[in-house]
Amino acid sequence: MTQTEPDPQPVPAPEPKQRKRTFLLGAVLVLAATATFAIAALLVTIFQHQQESAQTWVKVVELDETTVDPSIWGQNFPSQYQAYLRTAEFTESAHSGVLVPHDVAGDPRSEVPSSKLEEDPRLVRMWDGYPFSVDYRHARGHAFMTIDQQFTLRNIEFKQPGTCLNCHASTTALMSELGNGDVQAGFEAMGTVPLKELIEQVEHPVACIDCHDPSTMALRISRPAFKAGIAELKASEGIENYDVNRDATRQEMRSYVCAQCHVEYYFAGENKVLTFPWDKGLDVDNIFDYYMEIGHVDWTHAGTGAKVLKAQHPEFELWSQGVHAANGVSCTDCHMGYVREGASKVSNHQVTTPMADVNATCGTCHSTGDGVLEARVTTIQDRFIESRDRALDALVALIDDLTAAQTDGTPEASLELARTYQNKASFYIDIVYSENSYGFHAPDYTQRILSQALDAARKGQLALQGATAAELEPSEVTRNNLEQSLRAGGGHTGG
Ligand code: HEC
Ligand code: HEC
Ligand code: HEC
Ligand code: HEC
Ligand code: HEC
Repeated sequence: MTQTEPDPQPVPAPEPKQRKRTFLLGAVLVLAATATFAIAALLVTIFQHQQESAQTWVKVVELDETTVDPSIWGQNFPSQYQAYLRTAEFTESAHSGVLVPHDVAGDPRSEVPSSKLEEDPRLVRMWDGYPFSVDYRHARGHAFMTIDQQFTLRNIEFKQPGTCLNCHASTTALMSELGNGDVQAGFEAMGTVPLKELIEQVEHPVACIDCHDPSTMALRISRPAFKAGIAELKASEGIENYDVNRDATRQEMRSYVCAQCHVEYYFAGENKVLTFPWDKGLDVDNIFDYYMEIGHVDWTHAGTGAKVLKAQHPEFELWSQGVHAANGVSCTDCHMGYVREGASKVSNHQVTTPMADVNATCGTCHSTGDGVLEARVTTIQDRFIESRDRALDALVALIDDLTAAQTDGTPEASLELARTYQNKASFYIDIVYSENSYGFHAPDYTQRILSQALDAARKGQLALQGATAAELEPSEVTRNNLEQSLRAGGGHTGG
């Protein structure tokens, strides 16, 4: 809120010392009261939103756990269904990319979102040797999630496990079928079938049944991977046996339903079971430590031989570190703002960028007008891009040097150390690059991650010049400050 409020009090004219102090004190009190009022007002707004659920509906058809087709649900809930269909519309915004014509034999799509690899060829260097370096595009609406997965070159040209489908279709009924009624067993079996086969068995993108209980319409978590992941996260915070569908508040569920898919993940074990790396917490440091501990590697970099991790769409993780999450503002508050339908208000099921209608989304809590909020978003995103670009340039320079050093007699120990720094810089850049808000969900935190990435890239280059791991340790001041922030709950594990 701070940035969006008018400048504080005008500067008072010079006055005798005593009076000036009283004035300042008064001004401070007024400011404090205003701030308290503003925060209280926001909390009231949020609270009111939480009450807006008490909806009644006309039951035209019976719904149960086998009703996958959203058009049947649409008979009971026509407004939500109509908006849901509009996820097929492309909503352009500053960083959405554009739709480009597409004419490829065997691929039914006549248009696809523009390529991020063409926009930024540095990504091809970063992911050299991994399917992402072949095809990576902007995201678009939910209506396309299955077809875009089916025809990406990452599926056409590579062997992918059925696990991929978890986040790209309505799989609630499919999991039950695969496990003969046992959803958990069906979920675990997904990875034993190739994606190219399993994808033929689904008919709808994420549907009503994936987010709603058909008998009560309450939000629910249908994906075992999220149930397990959030339980691990809660256990790391000292909460045992967490059952998300029993224990989460309604406001939490308004983010958790999205976090079934908009999260970082990996495939565990031979059956490629979908797993979220949250055992130590949601901070990128926690996630990186977790991967180091279990020894997970996504691929070996073709140019440098480094064993590298890939990050994917960690919207939930980054949002969780920002000021909105700290104030209980959910994904739904911004991405599914209420729209008026006659006498009632419904949640906008055309899930897309909030910038398409700032008044209906941000405007429920921030009443600045005059483009102040839009300008704020632009500033945050521009600053993000500036830092991201510097960090990625540094990583590419490290990759260049490391590639050359393979054959110029650099000692193996230096190469190996430089490779570990490449992995760190790469993962830390990836976690904010593959996050789709361009820094908005947690601006200051995103900047911290990029400074860590830049630091790792610099150290990788120093390692190639002969610096040892001990010489590249942070200074004592830096270490002390890190420890202090960790004790204060900064969620930072150092490095
Ligand atoms: C944990 C959930 C999850 C899993 C598992 C998952 N995806 Fe996605 N995928 C998403 C989300 C969320 C998006 C939209 C955000 C984005 O594009 O970053 C997405 C976007 C995509 C896109 C469109 C943008 C692009 O990257 O070109 C493709 C294609 C895709 N995924 C393919 C795959 C393939 C192939 C797999 C299996 C290797 C897979 N997905 C597994 C959640 C998932
Ligand atoms: C079943 C997995 C899944 C769930 C649940 C899910 N998403 Fe998505 N989301 C995706 C995938 C996959 C894409 C990319 C589709 C594509 O590019 O073809 C996507 C795309 C998006 C986009 C980009 C839309 C655009 O117009 O560019 C937004 C915004 C988004 N999701 C937000 C949300 C929010 C908010 C929620 C919760 C209310 C949510 N998603 C729930 C998988 C999911
Ligand atoms: C305070 C409001 C706010 C909250 C809360 C929020 N977002 Fe966003 N989100 C934004 C803004 C603003 C953007 C940038 C949109 C743009 O550039 O057009 C964005 C971008 C995105 C995008 C990319 C959109 C696109 O068009 O490709 C996705 C996906 C997304 N958010 C998902 C989520 C998920 C999932 C959550 C909850 C874990 C969440 N958001 C919470 C405001 C919010
Ligand atoms: C990605 C998850 C998701 C999908 C898919 C989804 N919804 Fe929702 N729906 C929500 C969220 C989040 C809310 C807000 C619930 C709350 O505040 O408790 C909601 C609210 C509702 C409500 C309550 C009234 C309102 O508008 O707030 C109805 C009715 C509803 N959805 C119907 C549907 C129907 C019908 C479909 C399929 C055509 C559908 N939903 C698909 C997430 C989803
Ligand atoms: C449900 C209420 C709610 C919604 C919706 C909401 N915000 Fe906020 N916003 C808050 C609260 C609460 C704060 C924190 C206020 C504080 O601590 O001073 C905040 C803070 C901010 C800040 C300051 C961020 C910082 O790091 O200090 C910005 C910028 C902002 N919001 C922009 C937006 C934009 C843009 C949208 C829409 C995409 C949006 N907000 C939607 C409640 C909301």
